[in-house]
Amino acid sequence: MSEPAVRRALPGDAEAVTGLIERAIRISTAGAYPADAVEAWATGRTAEAVRAMIEVTDGFVATLGEAVVGWANLDGDEVDQLYVDPDAGGQGVARRLYETIEALARANRLDQLTSVASLRAEPAFHHFGFREVDTDQVAFNGRTFTVVRMAKHLERALPGQAAVRRDGRGRDVAGPDHNQAGRR
Ligand SMILES: CC(C)(COP(=O)(O)OP(=O)(O)OC[C@H]1O[C@@H](n2cnc3c(N)ncnc32)[C@H](O)[C@@H]1OP(=O)(O)O)[C@@H](O)C(=O)NCCC(=O)NCCS
Repeated sequence: MSEPAVRRALPGDAEAVTGLIERAIRISTAGAYPADAVEAWATGRTAEAVRAMIEVTDGFVATLGEAVVGWANLDGDEVDQLYVDPDAGGQGVARRLYETIEALARANRLDQLTSVASLRAEPAFHHFGFREVDTDQVAFNGRTFTVVRMAKHLERALPGQAAVRRDGRGRDVAGPDHNQAGRR
């Protein structure tokens, strides 16, 4: 796969993003939830609702040529949406979108990012440096879904000082964030 480009989502992307979300849920989350719940999740939004999300939150799309292959947004401090077309999955598209969102969050001087992650997305958020806060049940389109509430603290580097960060055991360590180094 050639490298996807990431750009701001535009209202005109709403139809493509809606189709992408449906495909991502139907194909990539099959097995994570019962089939009827997956179908309810996949079909639970309109293109108008997606257009509204694009207009009122900070949304980004990943594109390959003309095709929209990924979509994510930042709503307050929450990474609310993160979907990648299954045909483009497993190749770092979600990471590229996430890194764009984290850079925006840092530019906005947010102290943390949160996520209500699906069981399918939880491992990716762990890879992005999030930790589990708790598990929860959320209702959507008439079904109930087990989700994982997650958070990532965003340390701020003082001028002339390396950012302090914590390793997987919660110990403070200095230097570049390994999650950000040498990525695709
Ligand atoms: C979850 C999803 C966004 C991942 O997209 P993707 O482009 O395939 O993810 P990437 O290739 O960028 O992988 C991101 C990281 O997560 C890791 N990862 C992804 N899926 C994983 C899995 N099932 N198990 C373990 N690690 C996984 C990757 O190894 C990668 O880590 P690295 O960058 O440190 O190497 C995509 O599968 C999807 O759209 N799922 C369905 C919808 C969904 O659940 N969305 C979230 C709603 S909260």
